[in-house]
Amino acid sequence: MTNTNGQRLWDSLMEMAKIGGTEKGGVNRLTGTDLDKQSRDLFKRWCEEAGCTVTIDALGNMFARRPGKNSGKLPVAIGSHLDSQPTGGKYDGALGVLAGLEVIRSLNDHGIETDAPVEVVNWTNEEGSRFSPPMTCSGAYAGVFTVDYAASRADENGKTLGEEIARIGYAGPEPVGDHKLGCFLELHIEQGPVLEEGGEKAGIVTGGQAQRWYEVTVTGQEAHAGPTPMARRKDALVAASRMVDAVNAIGHEFQPNACATVGYMRVYPNSRNVIPGEVFFSVDFRHPDDETLSGMDAALKTRCEEIAEKAGVSLDLVDIWHCPPTIFDERCVSALRDAAQEAKLPAREMISGAGHDALYVARVAPTAMLFVPCKDGISHNEAEYASPEACAAGAEVLFGAALRLAGRV
Ligand code: GLV
Ligand code: MN
Ligand code: MN
Repeated sequence: MTNTNGQRLWDSLMEMAKIGGTEKGGVNRLTGTDLDKQSRDLFKRWCEEAGCTVTIDALGNMFARRPGKNSGKLPVAIGSHLDSQPTGGKYDGALGVLAGLEVIRSLNDHGIETDAPVEVVNWTNEEGSRFSPPMTCSGAYAGVFTVDYAASRADENGKTLGEEIARIGYAGPEPVGDHKLGCFLELHIEQGPVLEEGGEKAGIVTGGQAQRWYEVTVTGQEAHAGPTPMARRKDALVAASRMVDAVNAIGHEFQPNACATVGYMRVYPNSRNVIPGEVFFSVDFRHPDDETLSGMDAALKTRCEEIAEKAGVSLDLVDIWHCPPTIFDERCVSALRDAAQEAKLPAREMISGAGHDALYVARVAPTAMLFVPCKDGISHNEAEYASPEACAAGAEVLFGAALRLAGRV
């Protein structure tokens, strides 16, 4: 007998995944789009049907509260994000939000009164795909970014996060950061192969690795592809390609545990018979140790400068984001560990390779995360898959942990 209803959670996940559902079975639900609005509307309706009061802050972060006996206590919050990558899966983010809702629905089913309120949270723009950097609005909530900075993040067409959240009707009245949390739990698919390879059913996440993001603009000179001799070219794409190769090499050189990715590139003017005059690309560096990440940072800057000089192009390399390593709260970690034991789930302790809202919420409230396995460790991919059993087990552990932290009356 479980406390939570795995079938109901699965049905809700599948219903949510129809919003922005792609032909390949994934989800495309970028922040601030009409699809984002639809997912928020559905989430809000489900929360209200479960008896919650939903409040929304100025950046669209949503908090759905089930009251506790003691209204003076800060809530035990559970949540994640409903936005996705452009070729995202059904589980990254949505599982953490809907599992929180499942905990509330299950508390209702069993008529359980908690001492502290229990809340479900949907954080705005975790993915950082349409608007960079990621974890933007949990970051603003935690005071890492100003609200103006978060709201002014622009997409490639110049539309800002603030404008788009207002356009879809989710710029709420509550000042960002005013809605205090007693603690925060986030359930997520693991997004890597570790749990699956180890045969464990859950990961008790004790912290997250450090990350740095950069934006690089390489400027050469547009010229005709026919009459311009090879020796006279200032080809921005050739230089940028060497830099991409350097990024990858740095990732290999700083093993174990380094990750280095170029995932976004724009080529100007992007015409077949014009030598590219300008290239813009992103760099994503990660490492559990911040000092090693600084070493990667230094290597990136030196190598890109060398490449630019040799190629006769100019370089503008901007650090846009640094998130140091995070250590989660021992009381929240224990609540999850004990709940996993009670649910008889073989679990291992681990740190997160991916970024999550929990990393920022941890700065202002005791926080921890729980991972469940994801098939072949594939995520940020339309083929992303977590089994109904894995999702249900995650919700069950959250239920146990939330009760431990909120107190049963
Ligand atoms: C967010 O999903 C990240 O880890 O980049
Ligand atoms: Mn996520
Ligand atoms: Mn993601």
